[in-house]
Amino acid sequence: MKQICVIGVGYVGLVTSACFADLGNRVVALDVNEQRIANLKKGVMPIYEPGLEELVERNVKAGRLSFTTSYAEALKGAQFAFIAVGTPSSVNGEADLQYVADAARTIARTMTASLIIINKSTVPVGTGDWVADIVKSAQPEPIPFSVVSCPEFLSEGVAIGDFMQPHRTVLGSLDREAAEQVAQLHLPLRAPIIITDLRTAEMIKYASNAFLATKISFINEIANICEALGADVKEVAVGMGYDKRIGSLFLNAGLGWGGSCFPKDVKALAFMAAEKGRHPQLLNAVMDINYDRRKMAVTRLEEMLGSLDGKVVGLLGLAFKPNTDDMRDAPSVDIAQDLAARGAAVRAYDPIALEGARALLPEATMFTDPYRMAEGCDALVVVTEWNEFKQLDLERIHGSLKRPVVFDGRNIYDPAYMELLGYEYRCFGRGSDGG
Ligand code: NAD
Ligand code: UGA
Repeated sequence: MKQICVIGVGYVGLVTSACFADLGNRVVALDVNEQRIANLKKGVMPIYEPGLEELVERNVKAGRLSFTTSYAEALKGAQFAFIAVGTPSSVNGEADLQYVADAARTIARTMTASLIIINKSTVPVGTGDWVADIVKSAQPEPIPFSVVSCPEFLSEGVAIGDFMQPHRTVLGSLDREAAEQVAQLHLPLRAPIIITDLRTAEMIKYASNAFLATKISFINEIANICEALGADVKEVAVGMGYDKRIGSLFLNAGLGWGGSCFPKDVKALAFMAAEKGRHPQLLNAVMDINYDRRKMAVTRLEEMLGSLDGKVVGLLGLAFKPNTDDMRDAPSVDIAQDLAARGAAVRAYDPIALEGARALLPEATMFTDPYRMAEGCDALVVVTEWNEFKQLDLERIHGSLKRPVVFDGRNIYDPAYMELLGYEYRCFGRGSDGG
């Protein structure tokens, strides 16, 4: 049984803690947020992630998982310390490493025995070396330690499955022996393990996220061209996806990417490039294409309604993707602000994210039922493709809308069926002008 400390109990840290515990390790999960830890001790999750509550409960009961705010308690007997704190964007796009620095400094001051410190947070290339310097200079007495980069590749909403069945594990270190020890922890996952140097491991993470974001922006650019030429981007994506060199995933055209990852990571990679005098022109275009989607959705709706002034618009979905409550850089926020700025009254419904969304969307009236929200609306906009929206009673909704206008930002409905039901329906990239 290995003893592991995980620092940060957010989306990554809590999933990592629960999954490593489930693999038979003893895990102490730590956070500086006292409320989060107090709640976790009572079995209350700080985030919504399918299956997480049960996994945490099972491992706490088995005595393999515990929670603390004390670094001394978390590090006592630990052989491995995973840093899984946030690395949000600074104003200039650079990753803000203050939480990583705090964690590294506190580890250094608290550790009493040799330790492998593992960066799970997404951190700019060179951060591993920087963390090693911080630890060395903050240690009261020299105690041996190594730094290993082990970037996380999980996606929210399917995080446990992604952790337990990863496509690969990437490890980077200047200390091969330390990397091998971290590799041992991941052996039960039976995925390919790549051991490389620190900087390369850090770069693999950014390059992977930037590539996925590029793939989405690519299909969104194709969607625009499809509209102009009368083709259907959904079928284009299917036709492309059968080519194994392309693959069918991440080719859903629509409102584009948001969340806590792609936006900040593409920005941070572009920042790293520019800082070294490189011109990241593809990354810049990928971001431009992406953020245009949000404006385009509102402009299209305005075209459909004539004007947005005084109109009531209902948003179906607020979270940046289905099966999460995460509202970080969610397209819904920009869309709601833009609608309100153009004079519309905004209503919103989301199965999970309503509570977290309230502070971010003060202009919106929240509803806990999509049918009630639709009553008297001039239009609906599909923002998040929750499964329950695919099964809505569209005939009932048609009858309760003031005007049967739907802008489908995630291409979840069939345009021909919507037309049959009498909707004025538009979406992205399917036939002339998306309609
Ligand atoms: P999060 O904001 O959900 O959680 C971070 C946690 O760290 C918070 O609970 C915070 O209180 C805690 N924290 C901050 N400073 C601390 C400190 N000094 N000591 C202890 N705890 C501290 O973040 P997240 O979404 O889990 O992301 C964490 C990192 O993982 C980021 O770098 C992110 O880019 C990366 N990542 C995230 C995902 C994802 O799907 N969310 C996936 C892969 C990688
Ligand atoms: C993403 C990556 O998929 C993970 O591998 C990575 O670990 C994580 O970022 C991270 O580094 O933090 P996540 O942001 O949770 O995970 O969600 P995704 O499923 O990748 O979706 C990201 C965004 O792209 C969402 O807004 C989604 O709606 C959008 N998207 C996704 C599309 O617009 N089209 C698609 O075809 C796929």
